[in-house]
Amino acid sequence: MFIKNQVFKTNNAGASIRQSDKKGKQKEFFKYTLLRGMHDILPREEKYWRPFRDNAVKLADHFLYRQIETPVLEDANLFIRSVGKGTDIVDKEMYIFEDRDGKKVCLRPEMTASVVRAYIMHGLWSLPQPLKLWYWAPMFRHDRPQAGRYRQFTQFGCEVFGSDDPAVDSELILMAYNFFVDLGLPVQIKINSIGATEERNKYISALVEYYRGKRSYLCDDCKKRLNKNPLRLLDCKQEQCKPIKDEAPQILEWLESESKGHFMKVLEYLDELAIPYALDHTLVRGLDYYNRTVFEIYPAVDGEMNTQGALGGGGRYDPLIEQMGGHPSFGSGFSIGVERAAQYLKQACEQQICALPKAECNVYVAQLGDQARRNALKLINNIRNSGLKIDYNLTKNSLKVQLDSANGLKVPYTLILGQKEALDGTIIVREMDTGKQQTVKIDKVAEELRKRLKAR
Ligand code: HAM
Repeated sequence: MFIKNQVFKTNNAGASIRQSDKKGKQKEFFKYTLLRGMHDILPREEKYWRPFRDNAVKLADHFLYRQIETPVLEDANLFIRSVGKGTDIVDKEMYIFEDRDGKKVCLRPEMTASVVRAYIMHGLWSLPQPLKLWYWAPMFRHDRPQAGRYRQFTQFGCEVFGSDDPAVDSELILMAYNFFVDLGLPVQIKINSIGATEERNKYISALVEYYRGKRSYLCDDCKKRLNKNPLRLLDCKQEQCKPIKDEAPQILEWLESESKGHFMKVLEYLDELAIPYALDHTLVRGLDYYNRTVFEIYPAVDGEMNTQGALGGGGRYDPLIEQMGGHPSFGSGFSIGVERAAQYLKQACEQQICALPKAECNVYVAQLGDQARRNALKLINNIRNSGLKIDYNLTKNSLKVQLDSANGLKVPYTLILGQKEALDGTIIVREMDTGKQQTVKIDKVAEELRKRLKAR
């Protein structure tokens, strides 16, 4: 924070000073600081991010999704027309500005519209369908910053094009579910169907009629929603509106047989997959492009969890593709907020609900002396290339310190390379459980390790 008329006395690194704030509390002030709502992801948090990234890649590979990347900066109209006027994202949260050519651009607030744009623009509809795509990318929303709400955040998401099969929706829910459950994190799926456009329009008329008579009992936001975006009335969290919401007409009653049949099939598949879900007739999602299936994912742990809102959400958006200028097709997908996921994992680890996956290491290399260190680098590279997981610390010279590190990592074997071994082209293989050591030729050591690891 820059303080006006302040002469900075900097700390050793030259970046900050300690000062009393208005309440007299000692605080550190920085010459340069983050913009409000932005955050750094520091190395100490990596352990909560990495398992999700690894799991995302694993799931995508397993379910045959291919990665897509699109630019952060897009034509603002792309989101105004798809996410929709009257939604919080478009009305309040877009980072929108004119570029130097006077074009109205924005930092993407979500990815689905960008992926649909790419699907149409690059003729991806002409590839064998269904086409399954995934992404891991930063999004930007000028949201009110609070826990779990950032102005730049990361989403892992999947989108499937070209199939209206309910099995697609269930597979997407399965992936979103596995994203957490594979790491031992319990989650709950909330699900609803908001039907086809015509069904929803009829429902909205009934909803408006129901709410109109109760206008004077509504909160100020709901009074606005009633005129601007009535479906969002079902999203209200205010106590004063709850009894009215509880008695509101339910959208499922307005679905015709085809939409109803589609939804029943999605639920049947989820039952078959043993994915627990809760039907929630008030779930309508905050973006305008959905039809039929909609769902959200929440932490399933009571108590002190502070993930602030949904971990992820998604649904079907069939009309969007034609609406954005493509041939009529089908689309369905989800996105998960990785910051919220990482926060959930951190809290769950602290509460011992789950543990971080162990980074398994097969072998540690300890070296002693200049020549040994030089040879060690080449050896480490060769062993890594052979596919084994290896650790080492070339800045340490004490064998004891290096063996302590190896013990800490619980590796089954340590390779010890001293001056003598470096000169005669050998290396000592130490079995960590027993302390037994054997000298082998250095160019045979990768093979020897592989053999021993296999036999364990
Ligand atoms: P969304 O519900 O707007 O859906 O966002 C998905 C997830 O992104 C949220 O559940 C939340 O975890 C995370 N998220 C949203 N805003 C923030 C924020 N300000 N800070 C941190 N995390 C946030 C979509 O974006 C749709 N595109 C999902 C989708 C994909 N539907 C179909 N395909």
